[in-house]
Amino acid sequence: MRFSENAVAELLVRVEQLSVTYLPDSDQPIRALDSVSLEIRPGERIGILGESGSGKSTLAAAILRLLPGDARYDSGTIRFRDQDVLTLSESALRQIRGAAIALIPQEPALALNPVIRAGDQISEVLRAHLPMSRRDRKARIEELLTEVGFDQPQSIYTAYPHQLSGGQRQRIVIAQAIACKPQLVIADEATSKLDASLQAEIMNLMLQISRRYGMAFVVISHDPTVLAGFAERIVVMQAGRIVEEGRTTDIFRRPVHPYTKALVRLSARHLSNIGTRIRFETAASEVAHS
Ligand SMILES: Nc1ncnc2c1ncn2[C@@H]1O[C@H](COP(=O)(O)OP(=O)(O)OP(=O)(O)O)[C@@H](O)[C@H]1O
Ligand SMILES: [Mg+2]
Repeated sequence: MRFSENAVAELLVRVEQLSVTYLPDSDQPIRALDSVSLEIRPGERIGILGESGSGKSTLAAAILRLLPGDARYDSGTIRFRDQDVLTLSESALRQIRGAAIALIPQEPALALNPVIRAGDQISEVLRAHLPMSRRDRKARIEELLTEVGFDQPQSIYTAYPHQLSGGQRQRIVIAQAIACKPQLVIADEATSKLDASLQAEIMNLMLQISRRYGMAFVVISHDPTVLAGFAERIVVMQAGRIVEEGRTTDIFRRPVHPYTKALVRLSARHLSNIGTRIRFETAASEVAHS
């Protein structure tokens, strides 16, 4: 009893029995989440796996109460530490968003503003949450740019997004997400637009950051291979429900649900075996610059 109470107190996020429905004007209601429960512990790396439309992005946005206007929270609770996310004031929520929990949105166009220089986009996040002098902020941005793998942070600072490659833009988005040292980063398909080797580099970068700061990460993907070397635990979603959950090695070696079996079988030709983890971790020490 005592043990379980302590375990709950240590949770970062606790989603319990959450159900969400979209009510589009011109269409039938869509039950996007159906009694979903998820616990995230400090420093934990979780993968959320599921096909298109299974509710992954809805879950990510719901945790930060960022669902669009046509979404309705039907039932369930979301707690961040000791706060009840669904009843928090907007100002209390702003303290959490970006500062304690950072969301890397699925749509790249939402992540970076095309008319603002890369460094200034990171600066905006810092300005919103951390009081510091201009000079300290500039130094902090250069430090962040170095941290995400740029060896010439000054030239990246002044670049516009279109002057950067896809991999470089993704690094800027990660720098933005970690700027305020959040306790949790939720990355929604952060690498799905990149080719396989860039995907691996970005996943390695997030692995290093998670370890260095003890930051929890939730990485969303429809591709098990992306999660294999990163996640400690995988949650599998289908049609708004969690259909399977377990340690990553168990999910790959002994998938139970037919849907998980099919997903893992599909990815098997890309993964020689679960030893991918080893390849990822070796590469982690040499995050290449893209
Ligand atoms: N704003 C919206 N209005 C109406 N329906 C929506 C809205 N956003 C999502 N949906 C529907 O809710 C369901 C879950 O969508 P969601 O975007 O969460 O899935 P996903 O797992 O992130 O998919 P993907 O892999 O394509 O990103 C889908 O049926 C989708 O069509
Ligand atoms: Mg999505």
